[in-house]
Amino acid sequence: MSAGAILVTGGAGFIGANFVLDWLANEGSPVVNLDQLTYAGNPANLAAAAKDARHVFVKGDVGDRALVGGLLREHRPQAIVHFAAESHVDRSIHGPAEFIQTNVIGTFSLLEEARGYWSGLAGTERGGFRFLHVSTDEVYGSLNGADPAFTETSPYAPNSPYAASKAAADHLVRAYHHTYGLPAITTNCSNNYGPFQFPEKLIPLMIVNALAGKPLPVYGDGLNVRDWLYVADHCAAVRLALRKGRPGETYNIGGRAERTNLEVVRAVCAALDELRPDRAPHAKLIRFVKDRPGHDRRYAMDPRKIEAELGWRPRHGFESALRKTVEWYLDHMDWVNGVTSGAYRDWTELNYGQGGRA
Ligand code: NAD
Ligand code: DAU
Repeated sequence: MSAGAILVTGGAGFIGANFVLDWLANEGSPVVNLDQLTYAGNPANLAAAAKDARHVFVKGDVGDRALVGGLLREHRPQAIVHFAAESHVDRSIHGPAEFIQTNVIGTFSLLEEARGYWSGLAGTERGGFRFLHVSTDEVYGSLNGADPAFTETSPYAPNSPYAASKAAADHLVRAYHHTYGLPAITTNCSNNYGPFQFPEKLIPLMIVNALAGKPLPVYGDGLNVRDWLYVADHCAAVRLALRKGRPGETYNIGGRAERTNLEVVRAVCAALDELRPDRAPHAKLIRFVKDRPGHDRRYAMDPRKIEAELGWRPRHGFESALRKTVEWYLDHMDWVNGVTSGAYRDWTELNYGQGGRA
């Protein structure tokens, strides 16, 4: 990758914002941040970059080809890092259309514009250009208890509309490398947690509900397993894949931190018991509710390829980083109150309230 700006999509969301802040702190080059600011995108996530002249924020859709083409011609980025997506499995069950629009059509549009731009480059600019597509472990489907973790050669078997839309995007990225030679890399990561995660996802939802004395809804028997990774470790892996990853390759990223959902929720409660002892025990708020339709039983990533090839290692252990995350939410109640808006309350009513799952 040569020196110069990067174009990040979805950089006002949870992982994208962490990545933009991490990039500005660790790399010298500018970031053009294209984000549509859906319910999940929040300019407040980028407050720390507000005075950094290297950060250029553009509100817009990845599927807007004229806009994307113009940004590429104007900023001549050395790389595109594609985070923008509809990301919540439950929302994809209630309404899959937006997932197809952004995750599939949006990725296709971005690839087309990237191909046109890259084709016009020459010399080191062309040789150094990268398209990095950020994907998920969910494309591989569900594991049983004793199955080995997913590797880069595990067959695709997506089970939710979200997972299917990400799988479709992954296939398009693969095809653009294979057919046109676009220097694309795909990273498939396990469940992230950390600052700025929207409280529709398990860990921040449990923190926010527990603080409000509301029920902690655990789907089914609570024994579904996810492989948890602190978001800063994911950001470091993406930076490394940009710098050292081989075009055409995919890299699995995971924290080797498999936990049942019940273990995760109990760990959140234990951290809150220490930090807010007046409300202890928070675990008394746990409620088992109707399961998510088609709920994948277990995900686990085998990260040996990215460890061996790129020298990546997660630097954060689950228990300590989870506690740090709980502390972050307690210290940022203004942020929490800002995102739990009317639209958020409509969602919780749909998913957990009357007509929903609870
Ligand atoms: P998020 O929902 O928090 O953020 C998504 C961002 O994309 C938001 O800022 C939103 O405004 C923006 N966006 C949505 N549609 C857009 C469009 N059409 N044009 C431009 N911007 C648009 O998601 P996240 O959890 O930060 O996930 C980021 C990426 O990482 C996604 O591609 C997701 O599939 C992938 N991923 C997430 C996890 C996880 O645990 N959260 C794990 C592995 C992979
Ligand atoms: O695995 C990577 C994926 O992780 C990403 O690709 C997705 O973008 C991200 O949303 C996440 O998907 P999950 O479905 O695993 O995350 P979620 O936080 O929604 O749920 C985690 C587990 O907790 C899952 O087994 C469902 C369960 N759950 C979730 C919620 C919101 C509950 O038991 N109760 C809840 O209220």
